[in-house]
This record gives sequence, structure tokens and C-alpha cells, in this order.
Amino acid sequence: MSTTTVTQIQQSSVPQAALKLRPQSDEQKNRDAKQSEYKYSHLLPAFDSQERYPPLTPFEHVDPGFRALKHANPRAFLENANVVELTPNLGTEVHGVDLLSLDSDGRDQLALEVARRGLLVFRDQQAFIDAGSESYLEWGRHFGRLHIHPTSGHPQGYPELHLVYKDENKSFNFERDESITTSLWHSDVSYELQPPGLTTFFLLAQPSTGGDTLFTSQVSTLRRLSPQFVAFLRTLKAVHSGVEQAEFSRSGKRGGVVRREPVEHVHPVIRRHPVTGEEALYVNRQFTRRILGLKREESETLLKFLYDHVDRSVDLQARLKWTPHTVAVWDNRITAHSAIVDYGESKERRHGARITPQAERPIPALDGLDLSA
Ligand SMILES: [Fe+2]
Repeated sequence: MSTTTVTQIQQSSVPQAALKLRPQSDEQKNRDAKQSEYKYSHLLPAFDSQERYPPLTPFEHVDPGFRALKHANPRAFLENANVVELTPNLGTEVHGVDLLSLDSDGRDQLALEVARRGLLVFRDQQAFIDAGSESYLEWGRHFGRLHIHPTSGHPQGYPELHLVYKDENKSFNFERDESITTSLWHSDVSYELQPPGLTTFFLLAQPSTGGDTLFTSQVSTLRRLSPQFVAFLRTLKAVHSGVEQAEFSRSGKRGGVVRREPVEHVHPVIRRHPVTGEEALYVNRQFTRRILGLKREESETLLKFLYDHVDRSVDLQARLKWTPHTVAVWDNRITAHSAIVDYGESKERRHGARITPQAERPIPALDGLDLSA
């Protein structure tokens, strides 16, 4: 099927005259009224089936964490904050830092801290969240070129903002109908040549309970493996693909839009963080398809082993419970995450926005690893 959207199909099957004459039901009027009362209605997802973007082009990424390394105190932005480590190896919760007022040095330091801790959770960020789309873009551009998602909804006029959304009538990004679980560990859009680094996400509306997010450290999952096995993994590279995600949209789901043709890229199975030098496992169930150079069964067995290892390692994971005005910042190069869709029956709204700067092409942990397919 072509890129025809569900909306187009529905519209074309109803005569235009009937649309004009049909009186609005009370239910529809209530729904419209509720929507216009919603504080963040300007950030609701839009899907324009005519929107098209050319392929992404390579660019040079300079990680802001490098600048922080030269600073006299790379953690100065946390000096007056209340800091709690969520787990020994991953995640820090921060109270008392106003993200909106962080200057350039502070943002550089934040990037370095996120590279070291994987995840930073900032509470009490109403000013940041209420500052709006232009402010989100300005924030994200400090950390890298902003990614435009090929299929997800975005606020009208702001394709660089990736939205997740569910209310009593609509659901985008939470479809897991064919699986026994809603958990799916991944690193965002890892199929891009230069996948995201520091990533910012916050909720504008949330259910009264449920919808937490899980994170894991891919530095820690790698450390659990034996040196001999890690030495073998360092020699491997894998294909990451955006094809299934695009096909899902082309089938009419999730807004039915494909703005940029899907891509596949080859990345090292173990990548090295450019600033900290730490090695991290870089395969994920959502986007990694096969390991090059291995027979099919070998590749499938090895990937399944690694995915199961990530799934089972609850002792390496952190669970983020969203409270109003929370902003999470994580490093997609060294962590993986999974949504928890345990609120499927709820009629409450869940509405989130992601700012997703791209980073460098993944650096192989093994110097000189040839990444051509
Ligand atoms: Fe994600």
C-alpha cells in the first residue's frame, strides 16, 4: 500500500456534503471543548501525509562533554542541587537545578554528567516545560543537530519534536498488539548513520498511575560478560534497520506517515563513548536485525542471548516514575530504555515530547573495525 493515510481513507469514503450537514454530536462537542481547554493543545501531534524530507546527510558532531572536561569543576552545575543516585551504576535524580536557566557551561557539564551516569532525572521543571517549542529547539541544538523522526507525530510546524500520545480516543507509539508484553528495550532510532546522543524527554500530561519508563546501562550489561566473549563481540558489527517502523506506518498505523525513506546502517556491536571512552553494548531488539559475517542461526542465537541478557538484568536497571514537571535526560549511546504501557485501559491522557540531537557515527571499541557492509 502507498502512503495513503487512514484519515484520507475515512475522508474519501464520506461525501463532503454529508460532512457539512451532519450536526455535531454532544459527545463530539464535549471532546472538542476538552481539547481546546487543554493547556498543551498547541503541542498535540500532527500528521501531514504530504510532508517529505530528503535523506539525512553526514555532519561532524562535536560533543559538548569535551568542553566540560576542560572546566575547573565539571560538576559545578550541581553545586546547589539535591542529588540522589537512583542505582549504583545508572541514573541520578536532581532537585534544585532550573534547566531553563542553565548557561552554556552548565549545559556542557550536564552532557558530561549524563555520559557518566547514563540518565539524569530533573524534577520541578515547569518553567522548562512551559517555555514552548522554540525554547525546546534552542535547548536541543546545544547538544547536536536535531533529528527529525521519519514517522512520529510532531507539533504543527515543529518536526524536530518527537511526540508520544494517548488519550481516550487516540494512541500513537504504544501499539504492542502482537506481543505478550509491552516492554521493548531499544536505543532510539539506532538505524540512523549518526544515532542520537544526549536525549531530553518530558511529559506534558500523564495518567494518575502507570506509564513509568525503564532504563538500563549498556556499559554495565557489557561488563557482566566474560573478557573472552567481549573480545569476540568487539570484532562484530550489526545491521540496524528503520524499514519495519516505516512499514508499520505505511500499513496505516501510528498516524500513517513516512516523511523520509527508511534506512539501514551498520554499527559496531560494542561502541566506545567519545568523551568517557567507556565501552557499551550497542544492539537492541527493536532495530538490530543481524550480525554481519555470521551464519543466520549464529546471528539469531547470539542476538537473542544478548537481548535476553538485557531483559533479565533487573539488577542493572532503573525505573523512572514520572511526576508532573519531570524532565529526563539520557545518553542513547550507553543506555537502552523501554516504555511500560500498563495504563492501556485508562482514559487519561499521556502526552510526551522528545528532543533528540544526533551524535557521532558509533565508534567501534575495536580500533580499525571495518564498518562497510
Ligand atoms: Fe525510545
